[in-house]
Amino acid sequence: MPSFLQITDTHIVADGTLAYGRSDTAAALERAVETINARLPLLGGVECAIVTGDLTDHGSEEEYDRFKAIMSRLQLPYLAIPGNHDLRGPMRVAFAGEDWMPMQGPIQWRRDIGALTVIGLDTLLEGAHYGHLSDAGFAFLDSTLSSLGPRPAVIATHHPWMLSGIDAMDQDNLRNGARLIERLQAHPGPVRMISGHVHRAITGQIGKVTCQIGPAPCHAVHLDHRRQAENALILEPGAVTVYCQPATQPGLLISDLLPVGSFAGPWPFFP
Ligand SMILES: [Fe+2]
Ligand SMILES: [Fe+2]
Repeated sequence: MPSFLQITDTHIVADGTLAYGRSDTAAALERAVETINARLPLLGGVECAIVTGDLTDHGSEEEYDRFKAIMSRLQLPYLAIPGNHDLRGPMRVAFAGEDWMPMQGPIQWRRDIGALTVIGLDTLLEGAHYGHLSDAGFAFLDSTLSSLGPRPAVIATHHPWMLSGIDAMDQDNLRNGARLIERLQAHPGPVRMISGHVHRAITGQIGKVTCQIGPAPCHAVHLDHRRQAENALILEPGAVTVYCQPATQPGLLISDLLPVGSFAGPWPFFP
C-alpha cells in the first residue's frame, strides 16, 4: 500500500557534543534509521521519508554533513523542509542537486504519493522560533492546491498551528496559521496537516482538517499543561510516524507510530 514516513526534529549537533548538554541526537537518528530499515520489508510500498524540520540544532555545515551521513544509510529517498533550528542557506547548499530543493526562495515542494499529494511548506522565519508562512509560501500553496482538484492533500510544515497544550511551544507555533487553515478548509478533497516542532505525537481536528504533530527520534518536549510551565526536554522513547493508504478503503490515510529501538517479540498469539 502506498505510504511514506515522517521523521522530524532530529536536531543533529557537532560530533562529540550533546543537544542541550543531554540528548545524543545523532545516536537517536542512527537507531531510527536502523529501526526503519529493519521494518521496511514488512511494510511494502513505502516511497519516501519526509523530514519536517529541525534537521540540525544550529544550521551549521558540519551538522548538515553529519545529518546526511547518518541518513545516507536509510533505504529510502527523503525530502525535507526547514524548522526554526535550521538555516535556509546552509540547508540549500547541503541538499543542492536534490530534485526537491529549489534554487532560491522558500524550501517548498510537491510530491505525489499514491492517491495523495504532499505539499511541503517552509515556515522558517530566521531569527525567530515561531513560524511564519511567507507570501511566496501562500502563492505556492494556492497554485498547488488549485491544480489538485478533489485529490487528497497532505500539508507538511515544521510549525503546527494547532495548539499542543504546552504553553511555551504554543507561543512559538505557526503564528499566521489561521490563514493557512482557511485555505485548507476550502480544498474540495480531504486534507491532513502534518507538523513537527513539539517532539510529541499529538492529533487534533480543525474543521475538515486533521492536524498531526509527529514525535522525534530523540528527546521529547515535556508533557506539562500547567500555565507558564518551564519549557523542558525529557528522554522519553523516540519514534517516527508511518502513513499508509490501504487500497481496500479508498481515501483512507492511516498513521502509526514506530518506536525507535528493538523490542522483545513478535510472538504469535496462538502458536
Ligand atoms: Fe525541534
Ligand atoms: Fe522547532
